[in-house]
Amino acid sequence: MKTAVILAAGFGSRLKEKTALKPKGFLEVEGISLIQRSVDNLISCGIEKIYIGTGYLSEVYDEFALHYPQIQTIKSDKFESTSSMYTLCNMQDKLKDDFLLLESDLLYELDALNALINEEKKDVILASGKTNSNDEVYIHVDNFCNLLAMSKNKNDLDDVYAELVGICKVSLSRYKMMCEAYEKQDNPKIDYEYIMVQTSKEKPFYVKKIEELIWCEIDDANHLKRALSKILPKIKAKEMKIKRNVLLNPGPATTSDSVKLAQVVPDICPREQEFGDLMEYVSNELTTIVANNEEYATVLFGGSGTAVVEAILTSVVPHDKTVLIVNNGAYGKRMCQIASRYKMNFIEFKSSSIESIDLENLENEIKANTNISHLSVIHNETTTGLLNNLDDLGALAKKYNLELIVDAMSSYAAVPIDMKKQNIHYLAASSNKNIQGMAGVGFVIANKSSMQKLKDIEPRSFYLSLYEQYENFIKSHQMRFTPPVQTLYALKQAIIEAKEEGIENRYKRYCASWEILTNTLKKMNLKYLVDDKYHSKIITSIFIPNGIDFNAMHDCFFERGFTIYPGKVEEFNTFRVANIGQINSDDMEEFLELLKGYLDGKI
Ligand SMILES: Cc1ncc(COP(=O)(O)O)c(C=O)c1O
Repeated sequence: MKTAVILAAGFGSRLKEKTALKPKGFLEVEGISLIQRSVDNLISCGIEKIYIGTGYLSEVYDEFALHYPQIQTIKSDKFESTSSMYTLCNMQDKLKDDFLLLESDLLYELDALNALINEEKKDVILASGKTNSNDEVYIHVDNFCNLLAMSKNKNDLDDVYAELVGICKVSLSRYKMMCEAYEKQDNPKIDYEYIMVQTSKEKPFYVKKIEELIWCEIDDANHLKRALSKILPKIKAKEMKIKRNVLLNPGPATTSDSVKLAQVVPDICPREQEFGDLMEYVSNELTTIVANNEEYATVLFGGSGTAVVEAILTSVVPHDKTVLIVNNGAYGKRMCQIASRYKMNFIEFKSSSIESIDLENLENEIKANTNISHLSVIHNETTTGLLNNLDDLGALAKKYNLELIVDAMSSYAAVPIDMKKQNIHYLAASSNKNIQGMAGVGFVIANKSSMQKLKDIEPRSFYLSLYEQYENFIKSHQMRFTPPVQTLYALKQAIIEAKEEGIENRYKRYCASWEILTNTLKKMNLKYLVDDKYHSKIITSIFIPNGIDFNAMHDCFFERGFTIYPGKVEEFNTFRVANIGQINSDDMEEFLELLKGYLDGKI
């Protein structure tokens, strides 16, 4: 197969001003036009001659063709009063061989072309499974997958087999039949698809369906949006093979390839409005996961999770007030270390690292200290997997008119949180755990009216001043200092994918892995630290059996693509297995097989 035809004469009128100066094929997706992507794909598949059937603004294609010796443009003078079939017939002088036929407004993965080129049959229509694109052309076939009918309206067809992509392989004899059929009938505006259906009655036209084909057509602004957010990341991810590691550490978590590749973008100055818009999208969507955007706002920082815990503590507690910090694990202790480093007034409330907080004792502590203005807690203690009960803690804070600070680093975007209902004023989380993005962005989600009060508190830190960061973002949609640009691109993609999956479903997926993990541990007689009734279902701290060396076990699993994590509770000899990120039950089962094999001395 050496020849291709691209039909590119149409107006693209549904794209309005985007096609006022250039035809649809010149729509850019991440700085590269559809036509250039398509031509590059064709050339990389060995196509040597590409005819572009032009019409509307044909001179733009003529100029483009100057850059490629393989391209010849053929203008249809009647493009205004005819259709794609006329544009195709108009090439009869040139087409002397079988060819690939493509529409100009497609974004598609390379395998689309390979599938047709490698298919033995000579007349082939490429089709996909359901796209939900809102502009589908449905295909009905016979028992041999040969075309019977096509329609935009499902009800016109007895049965829907697949959706038309807009890329076909056409034999020269079929082409001649199609031209004859077109010339015989009297509707000049008839599209090539209908002529294909007509000729399929005389000669079979095979429909090659690839269920998961990644592609889209771009006819309007919504299609363009979908192309950018969903299709291009998938194409990029598929065409670049990246070794997959299953991270069973509690973040940075395993990410999808499309999130990894979202970082590969043209260079941009982050002070450009385009980047400000991206950060605005990111912060609004991050808020939406746990609160409403009217009363709450997300403040982004370049930094890890600890940075934003530090930003909250040092920004929100008035200098003459005290923060009560619950310490039931390493991250609660870290809050105390931060408060201590800044010489803040704080009370450390020590609580068991494996059992729920004794609320009566906590309440007594509050009663005994009238100067307390804030209660600060960890939601999921990542050291153990102990989940603190935010309903109870929120209610207690409310009773004593305290503001509640929650470090939700390892629970946010999985375990359900409702900031308003649970009376949470400040929440800290980061980009690299359950939201499944890259490390480098920490964020605070805060009640807006609480933040207004921060104006009167002199910040203890320069970089981590929460109010200044918030105020600056409202004014300019910018962070005060250089943001981690590529991490934010990845975070945007991670958010899109989190929305696609749904946070509830994500937590269900995590829980399914956790159930497999803990059920298998029970069968293997391996004990874990926290009782199921207090467990977060996010991370599990497992006792290391006697005679097993953590480092040797780690290295054995690491070599095989699985990363486990050391324990963090001093008095117990444990290791940790998290079940977050882009992993599923199969990964967990595979890991458990390895664990069994290792403990049985088989690997
Ligand atoms: C609950 C909790 N808080 C804070 C942190 C600190 O985050 P980072 O290591 O990104 O600074 C972590 C990290 O795992 C965590 O799990």
